[in-house]
Amino acid sequence: MSLYNRLKIDMSVADELSFNPYYIATKSHKSGSFEIDKKQYVDLASNDYLGLSTDKRVLKGSFDAQNDFGASLCGTPIATGNSMRFSTLADRLAGFAGVESAVLFPSCFQANTSLFTSIAGVEDVILIDQFAHASLIQGVKSVGCKVMPFLHNNCDHLEKLLKRTSKYRDVFVVTESVFSTEGSIAPYDKITGLCDQYNATAVIDDSHGIGVLGENGRGVLEHFNIENYKGIYTASLGKALANSGGMIGGPKEFIDYLRYGCPGLIYSTALIPSAVGGLESVLDIIETEFSDLRDKLEKNREILHNSLAHNGFTVIGNSKSIISVKCGSMKDTIELARTFFNYGMITTPFVEPSVPVNKGVLRIIPGAGISIERCEDIAEIIKKNILGIS
Ligand SMILES: Cc1ncc(COP(=O)(O)O)c(C=O)c1O
Repeated sequence: MSLYNRLKIDMSVADELSFNPYYIATKSHKSGSFEIDKKQYVDLASNDYLGLSTDKRVLKGSFDAQNDFGASLCGTPIATGNSMRFSTLADRLAGFAGVESAVLFPSCFQANTSLFTSIAGVEDVILIDQFAHASLIQGVKSVGCKVMPFLHNNCDHLEKLLKRTSKYRDVFVVTESVFSTEGSIAPYDKITGLCDQYNATAVIDDSHGIGVLGENGRGVLEHFNIENYKGIYTASLGKALANSGGMIGGPKEFIDYLRYGCPGLIYSTALIPSAVGGLESVLDIIETEFSDLRDKLEKNREILHNSLAHNGFTVIGNSKSIISVKCGSMKDTIELARTFFNYGMITTPFVEPSVPVNKGVLRIIPGAGISIERCEDIAEIIKKNILGIS
């Protein structure tokens, strides 16, 4: 068999349903909606939790930074990529998230895949939540060390595995704060407690927690009141923070090591200036308006959650930002996404291999960019049309 024949993806379900929910090409993006084929669709799919990606103040921040520094600094952070605004932003994000110091990457996928080979070797062991994001799994696998997956959010199982790690040089425990497919929040206070007890280093990916969790939106560490955090912290800047990029945070000495010891940082063009300016503006807004934005997100979620859960759908997870609807087979999952699409809403169907076979879920994120009235209309559409209840 030739290489290109082997590398084929089966798209028969999408063909059968005459609907492919992936790579939909949008024409424009306004607060809470996308234009596709001259029609407006409600954005229930993006990770724009606070609705800030189209905020005029954020756009101005991006534009002004681009004006000062150009489209790109055309250099890696160790070279010309380290503008004063870039390094000040890294410090500001570290303080915001509750870690001592941080470095910024062009994406969190890159941060996660670069991290583990810089900190672990074959003498070590990594324990990782079974549902951890692909970037964490890829990063962990690239080390070539012993990997022990633990049952999702299950501290008893994690502890059982930790008891078997004494022969390894270093032990790492890797998880996410908010699991965006399951809509669940990790018990990170307990996980860090276990790490202290078994002398392991905790690694958290807070991509779906930063800007969402905690009294002031500072993320997982604020949510669980974790102070003097000694573990490693990563987060995407392309979700609630509404731009792009990734960060790795942790104790200052460790971050100083990454500045010279992490090839994924040193050899990759720095975050572009427009993202730096946009992120500064987003932090300004979160620092003053978070409670209103969070209330809107949570109210929107509650309205749609109730309309689905009270009308026969199984909604899983305990997060207040994501609705995860159990669907089952690939066909059922994509079919439900198609129904939403036909009523003018974009959602995200997760099917295998992103989730186990026949454990498909439809993810719905009713961000703060969607008005509460619009969400109430959507709840009615769900009840009357999608569920066939009048
Ligand atoms: C948990 C998690 N980690 C990392 C990433 C990657 O982030 P980025 O889009 O910044 O590369 C994502 C994005 O999908 C994610 O959901």
